[in-house]
Amino acid sequence: MTIRKARIQDIKEIHTLLMRQEDHESLVLPRSFSQLYSHVRDFFVAEENGELIGCVALSITWSDLAEIRSLVVAKARRGGGLGRKLVEAAMSEAVTLGIYTIFTLTEVPGFFEKLGYTATEMDNLNQKIWADCLNCPRFPDHCNEVAMTIEL
Ligand SMILES: CC(C)(COP(=O)(O)OP(=O)(O)OC[C@H]1O[C@@H](n2cnc3c(N)ncnc32)[C@H](O)[C@@H]1OP(=O)(O)O)[C@@H](O)C(=O)NCCC(=O)NCCS
Repeated sequence: MTIRKARIQDIKEIHTLLMRQEDHESLVLPRSFSQLYSHVRDFFVAEENGELIGCVALSITWSDLAEIRSLVVAKARRGGGLGRKLVEAAMSEAVTLGIYTIFTLTEVPGFFEKLGYTATEMDNLNQKIWADCLNCPRFPDHCNEVAMTIEL
């Protein structure tokens, strides 16, 4: 299994991973092909035998803030440490870029707690994070996400 930066040829499989909602116990925000092609540089993928079995994106939000998003591990591969490895790869890139505060909006806070994240109020984060919320079908009344941060 290899974790590497995504290539443009990976986008169709990334799209499939993100859109396979019936496999997800929690919601991952759907992303269009247009968004995925524009943000291909944000993505890491986990590849095994030529197949993508996980992905994650590091999205830069502001001068000192980045977001972990679009995290999915293929259902058959969960529980083996792959989610942790993907998030660690994204956090490592943040440090390389000089960004030391990471946040995520998640319905699986227990997973991120294991990685050292702590819950915070949305209001403690830069206002730019609301842009995605405004476009989310669950905003404002059906949002179950918890904002979590880590200082690296
Ligand atoms: C959440 C997800 C990425 C976790 O991936 P994974 O490969 O199963 O996670 P890991 O095996 O790396 O788990 C790392 C640690 O978190 C724990 N953990 C994993 N999922 C958890 C959960 N839902 N709740 C609480 N703890 C969890 C593991 O037990 C493990 O703990 P340990 O280090 O003490 O052994 C995966 O379940 C998934 O793709 N879910 C569907 C999509 C989703 O919800 N994405 C997150 C959106 S922000």
